[in-house]
Parts: sequence; C-alpha cells; structure tokens
Amino acid sequence: MSDLPIPSPLPPATKHLYIETVGCQMNVLDSEMVVASLRKSGYVLTAKPEDADAILFNTCSVREHAEEKAYHNLFHLKQLKLQNPDKILGVMGCMAQKDQKAIFDRTPFVDLVVGPGQLHRIPEMIERARAGEKHQLAVSLSRRDGNVDDIKRSHETFDPLRDPEMRPTPFQAYLRIQIGCDKFCTYCIVPLTRGPEQGRAPAQILAEAKVLASQGCKEIVLLGQTVNSYRFVERDKTTRMSDLLRQLHEIEGIVRIKFVTNYPKDMTRELLETVRDLPKCSPYLHVPAQSGSDSVLKRMKRGYTTADYYDMMERIHDILPGAAVSSDFIVGFCGETEEEFQMTMDLVRRCRFKNSFIFQYSVRPGTRGAEIYEDDVPEEVKHRRNLDLLDVQNKISLEDNLRFMGQKVEILVEGPSKWSVRKGQTGDLRQMTGRTRCDRIVVWDGNVRQAGELLMVQITDVYAFTLFGMVETTEVVPELLQISML
Ligand code: SAH
Ligand code: SF4
Ligand code: F3S
Repeated sequence: MSDLPIPSPLPPATKHLYIETVGCQMNVLDSEMVVASLRKSGYVLTAKPEDADAILFNTCSVREHAEEKAYHNLFHLKQLKLQNPDKILGVMGCMAQKDQKAIFDRTPFVDLVVGPGQLHRIPEMIERARAGEKHQLAVSLSRRDGNVDDIKRSHETFDPLRDPEMRPTPFQAYLRIQIGCDKFCTYCIVPLTRGPEQGRAPAQILAEAKVLASQGCKEIVLLGQTVNSYRFVERDKTTRMSDLLRQLHEIEGIVRIKFVTNYPKDMTRELLETVRDLPKCSPYLHVPAQSGSDSVLKRMKRGYTTADYYDMMERIHDILPGAAVSSDFIVGFCGETEEEFQMTMDLVRRCRFKNSFIFQYSVRPGTRGAEIYEDDVPEEVKHRRNLDLLDVQNKISLEDNLRFMGQKVEILVEGPSKWSVRKGQTGDLRQMTGRTRCDRIVVWDGNVRQAGELLMVQITDVYAFTLFGMVETTEVVPELLQISML
C-alpha cells in the first residue's frame, strides 16, 4: 500500500557529483534526496570538485558566518569553473531562496540557484545548464508574494525515493514530517527561506517509514522546525504529533523514534504521555529555550515566558523521569543586558540540560529583529557570554554523565568512531560509536560487524560529550528490551 514509487535499477554511472552540505538536519536530508535523484540520472559521488561534472553547495542562512563561508567556497571554485566551463556549479538551500538573483551578481560563474522548495527541479536544470542555458533560478514565492495557498504550493517537500546508500548509516534515517515555520521569532530567517509551516500527510509519512524499515532502517528521526506543533487536517480528521507517533510505533523493524526540534509551548502533557507509553520513542527532547530572560524572550517573540518554560520542564520530569532535555541559546541578542544574560545562566543551571547549542546573535536582514532592534551588543561581549554559558553547560554535562560510570546502556551502533576514521584504522577491530536512547554518544573498542546492532555497553569513563565503554558480550539486545531510561 506504499504511496511511494518502487525503486528502479540505477543506470550505469557516467557522471560525477560533488556536494557540500552545511546547516541543519533539513539540509542533510535535502542533500540525501538530491543525491538520490541524481543517481537515477547516472551520477556517482566524488570527494573532489576537480573530478566532478556537477558541483552543488547546499547552503544555510541562519547566521551571517554560514553565508560568508558559502561565498568564500564559491570563490574558491571560480578558477576551476572558468577553466572548465562544462562543469555545472549550483547553489541550493536556504541562501539560494534568500539571496536569489543576487547570487549571480556576486558570483556570476554560478549556473544554478535553487531554493529548498524547488529541489525536484535540479536534475532537469543541470541538463539545461549542460546544454548551455545560463543563470537558471528556481525559488519559491516569498511570504509577501500572493495568497497563502499559492505560497504554500510553491514550497514543495522533496521526499522522493529513499536510498539507504546515501545515508551516513543505513539503519538510521531522517524523515520529514513538517516543512516551513510560522513562528516568526524576530531573529530568525527560517520562516522566510523555508516558507509557511505545513505538515506532511500522515499516509505519506507512514509509507515512507515503511520503505525505510524495509531497507533495514531501525531508527527514524522525525524532522520539523517545530516538530511537536505537527498537525495535518483532512476533511474532519486532525492528526497531531501524538497520533503520528502511535501510528509509526506499529511499524515492524523500527526500534527507535526520535523527533527534533521541539517548540516549548507545544510540549503538551498528552505528547509526553504518548512518549512515555510508546517504548520505541526516545525519552530525548530537544526544546530550545533561547534565553532565560522574559524581556529578551519578548523581544525575540518566542511566545512563552521563563515561567512557562520551567513549567514545561516540570511536566517533562514528572511524566518522563530521567528524560534527557537539550536546548539552544542565542547570546547577545539586541539589547541583552548583563542582568538578562545572567538569567540565562541561571536557567541553564536550573534546567541541567544534557547539552546546549549556543550561538552569538547574528543580525539577519529581512527579519523583524533586523528592522526594529539595534544589534548593539559588542562582538567581544557576545563572545565572552558564549564562553561563560558554554562553561556552565559543559560542567553540568560532565557532572550528569558521571552517574553513568559502571552502568550498562543500550546502544544503537552507528559505525567506526570519528577518531577511528581520523586514525585510518582498518580491519574488523575498530573503535566504534553509537548512541543511547537518550542520544548520548558512546565509544568503545569494537568490531565493524556490530554496526546497526543494538548492544549493551558498560560505561568505564565519561567526558562532557562522550561516554567510553566496553562490550562484555557479543550478545545482541533483543529488540525493545526496556532496560532503563538511560
Ligand atoms: N526551529 C528550531 C531552530 C532552527 S535554527 C527552533 O525553533 O528551535 C537553529 C538555532 O539557531 C536556533 O534554535 C537559534 O538558537 C539559532 N539561531 C537562529 N537564528 C539565529 C540568529 N539570527 N543568530 C544566531 N543564532 C540564531
Ligand atoms: Fe526560527 Fe523560531 Fe521558527 Fe525556530 S520557531 S525556525 S527559531 S522562527
Ligand atoms: Fe540553515 Fe535553512 Fe536549516 S537557514 S538552519 S539550513 S532551515
């Protein structure tokens, strides 16, 4: 009953594709999809731009630094492109949607600019570029370009065939359940680059999850900018996140379900109870707080107060004791005083997150924040606040990890660790890495054949971001054996 097309055999590989991806999980998934669709047109991946027939940059606009780096990388390829005019050079992703034609003005040697809502057009656009057509632009309507339905339609989700070979590990996959965002936090460019919030139809999501399970995928990570706000209305039936989780939970072969990123206001009791009642759902919740000061949250237009956030934390610990919560913070947002920043430090101390991603505010032209507030916190103050907050968070992460010493945790094995790859380890015996149900990273001296298995690992040493362990037995954990909340 799959709604997705049946995979057809790939044509012989005749052309090479080089792709570089930055940004969030959405971009990683978009790149996977684009590569899978180009493989159907006879492309294989290469790690060297010099060997490529087509070069794609999947870009991010969330901070200025990410954009500057993208332009820098493009300039770096200028000579290569000018000497080999047949090589097709494309910019895709959020910066393509945001800067549009301006990319051709700044880097005229680029052939294609493709926004994240138009990725299905890439194979055909590359062909047209190879036939000599210059400066092709495919972007979605901007938020002020017409009526909501037209704008929504112009931001298409691109979730065609899933190709296990295109994922870092075939047993884990991202699965998009929602595109766009309507929250319009004043600092954020995402509602402009990714368009209006739209839930994907549950039937499509389930069909895709079944395809993934049939390919041996054990863990799915559901993606959305505010994933727990997921809603899909057909006729008189509304499907919410908790309904979707219950349906996905039925799929045989899938043993873990995670979902990112959550919006604090939509972390309802009902959703938390659903996570508690469904053993495949990881008790891991990424719920960015952004700031611990009510006045800053108000300027950010986040739609909640710190009291709401603390209530949510209580709800989480009440319903899911031992759950791991992680967060994002922006330091140095417009007008942030030292006192306001100290409130963020207090929130981190009180909430004891598993980990936090900390960013220095970067003004994004086109956002409400850029229009109405002044970016007045000096760079060195932003930098110092970043370090201070990181320091508090790292101490908490380390302290919390200490309780894992000597414990056994259930790991889904991902593959050789980064260290093993860097060291060039070969053969079956390698340092391996995997994650606990709560998303903690564990490494141990193992065997490449463990990849994709659920294993029990005994923790022998801990750091702030990594647990070290050993595998006592090669016995594999029976699927879904609930050992603990670790
Ligand atoms: N949809 C997610 C976040 C998407 S962007 C959510 O709502 O939580 C990822 C993170 O980047 C945000 O959580 C925020 O902390 C950070 N971020 C977004 N815009 C930023 C900006 N202009 N400057 C610095 N950090 C920013
Ligand atoms: Fe950006 Fe806010 Fe939407 Fe997250 S919820 S993507 S921070 S506008
Ligand atoms: Fe960046 Fe776009 Fe993701 S701006 S963070 S790649 S949605």
